[in-house]
Amino acid sequence: MRFTVAIDGPAAAGKGTISKAVAAHFGFAYLDTGLLYRAVGAKVLAGAAPIAAAQTLDPVDLEDDSLRTPQVAQAASEVAAIPEVREALIAFQQSFAAREGGAVLDGRDIGTVICPGADVKLFVTASPVCRAERRFKELSDKGMAVTFDTVLADVKERDARDRSRAAAPLVPAEDAVLLDTSELTVEQAIAAAVGVVTKARI
Ligand code: CDP
Repeated sequence: MRFTVAIDGPAAAGKGTISKAVAAHFGFAYLDTGLLYRAVGAKVLAGAAPIAAAQTLDPVDLEDDSLRTPQVAQAASEVAAIPEVREALIAFQQSFAAREGGAVLDGRDIGTVICPGADVKLFVTASPVCRAERRFKELSDKGMAVTFDTVLADVKERDARDRSRAAAPLVPAEDAVLLDTSELTVEQAIAAAVGVVTKARI
């Protein structure tokens, strides 16, 4: 059985939490595609050339805890605007999406470019302040020294870059179901997403 769920949206909208829960609920595999760009961004911060870093990316590169820092997120969003970097990461994502047993992929262009034929497409969003509050809490809980204002600025800057780039810009697919989580608890957001997927499986 192949079944692909594409979950896109801006920075810190809750895609990861929702995607993991949807994958667990249905027994699907989960890929956080942002990690691919973060891993390339981290290599560039360490001195590598972006395209070569993308072309030689290894799945173990995705397991590094330091990929979650705001600095790496910014570098990720910069390398993600380079068409050749995106191109180098397509095959891995598409083969993950087509795996037996079902797959959930979250990112920015899953429903539009990577898996235009996905069985379900969700576009998860929330207001910039809500998203920054959640990301600020997440990073502070991990012990990172961040301020709310810098997290909000990071979220807004990445959104602007992700939306305005020519290569696979952040935009909802025409057939995506929009899910605004600003006023929802985590449980409500997960229930809404599981409901959309359940409907598509019938
Ligand atoms: O977790 P968060 O939403 O903050 O970011 P992420 O999903 O880890 O993605 C980091 C950056 O990678 C984004 O700002 C995008 O520029 C880029 N990205 C992308 O271009 N396409 C994807 N499918 C996933 C991430």
